Amino acid sequence: MMPRLYPLPGNEAFTAKLAAELKAQTGLLMVRRFPDSEVLVRYDTPPENQIALVCTLARADMQILPLLFAAGAAHSQGAAGVGLVAPYLGYLRQDQVFNPGEALTSHTFAELLSGSFDWIVTVDPHLHRYTSLDEVYRIPAAAVSASSAVAAWIREQVFEPVVIGPDVESTQWASAIAAEAGAPYTTFLKHRFGDRSVVLTPPDLKRWAGRTPVLIDDIISSGRTMVEALRLLREAGFPAPACIATHAVFSDQAREELAKAGAARIVTTDTIVHPTNEISVVPAVARAVESLTAARLEGAAHSR
Ligand code: R5P
Repeated sequence: MMPRLYPLPGNEAFTAKLAAELKAQTGLLMVRRFPDSEVLVRYDTPPENQIALVCTLARADMQILPLLFAAGAAHSQGAAGVGLVAPYLGYLRQDQVFNPGEALTSHTFAELLSGSFDWIVTVDPHLHRYTSLDEVYRIPAAAVSASSAVAAWIREQVFEPVVIGPDVESTQWASAIAAEAGAPYTTFLKHRFGDRSVVLTPPDLKRWAGRTPVLIDDIISSGRTMVEALRLLREAGFPAPACIATHAVFSDQAREELAKAGAARIVTTDTIVHPTNEISVVPAVARAVESLTAARLEGAAHSR
């Protein structure tokens, strides 16, 4: 039996598509803020048996408390299992203490979710120094890949592409997407000097002359990484590149800056609602929810 899906505010469209794909039912969870900004959550559809909350965590500081309150309420109101579908899982980039005295936020955030949920499904989590979510999450955690969906988009939309990852971290996505799109790939080197300050070093790009560059990253946040990559590709004489990211975080004026820097297309998946969403990860997320649910049912049968 599929879990009943409850969207947190802003996640209704993703939840409706996921419910249709899974043939699952949805439920109503009311979330409201008091004048002092404290939050109240209330199940208007009782949380019975297996349920999953759906909440992308692009603004995690605002979203984490409603989620934890809703998970706690579901358990205390009788739900047998409470999962989390978080198409974007924030707080993974601080995966080490970079400077003395800093908090290891990836770890603390994972502890909060692991203590409240029974399983989690997310898409292209930022795994760099962690090799798997299991290193930080102590609940079953599925990391869905957007690569096949992105590769299908490239095959349909770009003639003679060369896939480019703007930094070493992006090699995992660029290589998988290039293989499925039947295209070559390469990566730049990146040094970050601050939130909005990066310096990229490209490899020798001559061998890709004549191809259309497709920049691939997991996240566009400030946009500085993509803007710098666009600048170098334009300087090297390439045609206007397409910029693709799984997660449309887009802080400040990032989208406008990418357009100004010469992006031919700016395309994202639907993990975070944004006008650039052109690729859907819903089918891949549905398969992960199905297999986690099946594994839990099998585990429960064995323990009886
Ligand atoms: C970092 O390693 C990530 O993969 C992205 O490259 C980064 O988060 C993009 O950030 P921004 O858009 O702020 O340059």
